[in-house]
Order: sequence, then C-alpha cells, then structure tokens
Amino acid sequence: MRQILVAGNWKLNGSLDSIKTLVSGITAGEGDAGNTRIAVCPPFVYIPLVAELLAGSKVAWGSQDISDQDTGAFTGEVAGAMLGEFGCTYAIVGHSERRSLYAEDDDFTARKFAAARRTGLTPILCVGESLGEREQGVTEQVVARQLDAVIALEGIGAIGECVLAYEPVWAIGTGKTASPQQAQDVHAFIRGKLAGLDQAVADKVQILYGGSVKGANAAELFAMPDIDGGLIGGASLDAGEFLAICKAGG
Ligand code: 13P
Repeated sequence: MRQILVAGNWKLNGSLDSIKTLVSGITAGEGDAGNTRIAVCPPFVYIPLVAELLAGSKVAWGSQDISDQDTGAFTGEVAGAMLGEFGCTYAIVGHSERRSLYAEDDDFTARKFAAARRTGLTPILCVGESLGEREQGVTEQVVARQLDAVIALEGIGAIGECVLAYEPVWAIGTGKTASPQQAQDVHAFIRGKLAGLDQAVADKVQILYGGSVKGANAAELFAMPDIDGGLIGGASLDAGEFLAICKAGG
C-alpha cells in the first residue's frame, strides 16, 4: 500500500507575515491528517524561514525548482546542495509553468531531475498535457515522452526513487479538475508503462494528481487505485483548505 503524499506548491505567493500564519495553521492541524505525508514547497527565499518554523513538525519541505548545475557561474540559479543545507526533502522539477513559461524542455527537465538526485533530494517530476494535446488525443504520447527523457538519462530505477505528479495543464489554476476517472486513466497508463520496464518500480512509485484539487474533491481523487496523493497549488495557500485535503488522504 503506497502512502498518500499531499504537497503544497506555493508558486510565486507569500510574504514573511503570510507564510508565518500559513505554517502555524498547518502545524496546528497536522495531527489530524492520519497517515498522510505532508510537504510544502515555498519560494526559494522563504525556505530557511519555513525550515525554522517546521522544526519539530512532521511536515516536510522542498523547492519548486532546482538548478541543473552544482556550482559556478550560473547567475540566478539555486543548487541542490544549497537546498539540502536548508533541510529540503523534495525538489519539484518540470512543472508545466517552467516548461511553458520558461521554455524548459524535456532534456533540461531530465538534467534537473538528475541534479536533485545527486544532491540527495527527491524529485517530484511533473508531467501532463495541454488542452490542445488532450483534444488531439495525444495525452499518453506526451506523458510518455516526458517520462522517457528522464528514464533515458537516469534509468528506470531512478523513477522508483522519485515522486511523479500528473498535472494536466488545462486543470491547473482553472477550477476545472480532471474527473477522478480521467485522472485515474492517465495514472494507470503511467503505471502500466513503468510496469513494462520494471514491475517493482511501478508498484512503488507515488503518482500524485495536480490541478484544482480542493478539500471538496480530494477524497474521490485519492480513492482511485493509482492516485497516491496530490500536488496542490491555490488551495495550499489556505491552511484550512490544505488540511482538509491532507485529511482526505488520511
Ligand atoms: P492549482 O491547484 O492551483 O490548480 O495548481 C496545481 C499545480 O500546478 C500544483 O503544482
């Protein structure tokens, strides 16, 4: 039985004050989340603060992105070893906003995935199709291509040591959640594809769903056999709503 993981991706949101309030709201209620594993991914600059606020809590934290490089003349980048020094467990890689708004392609995403692994972080690898791709019926090809770039660089075994997140781009921040069955179909496709390469990896890897998850729809999504939790954007900025999602997995 795979553990449910609920990870909050705060994106470009927050301030010193609002993050203190959010974290204290989450830690006050984390005890009600049963066996659900909880994580939050703040903007880089707030990671030290969040690390301090979460000391003694079971909530883990991570970054929203990571450099593909380890050190040197790479202005603006943040390396995995730096994130490790601030206690990060996870690093999100290949979020659709990085892919589409910052032109990060499959190979670059794979190199970021590799950087996270070699610095001891667990990558949360995001995959997902755009609305146009879904309408053209190429969802599975797109998701397979995104996964294959990482498998080609790091091997199938590496997938067993990461977290995957299926985030259909058309469901992100739109209020249009994929139906539990729509999401399950893609999750099952991903797991089946992995099983063709390594059954143990397929059985083990957590596959999260992301895209307009809320307290009200989380339970039916998490009840699907191949959905092992959620990657939460907007609803992770409200402690009550985020905890309701965490409880749905508990
Ligand atoms: P929303 O939950 O705001 O749709 O965002 C999902 C997401 O992109 C998480 O990474």
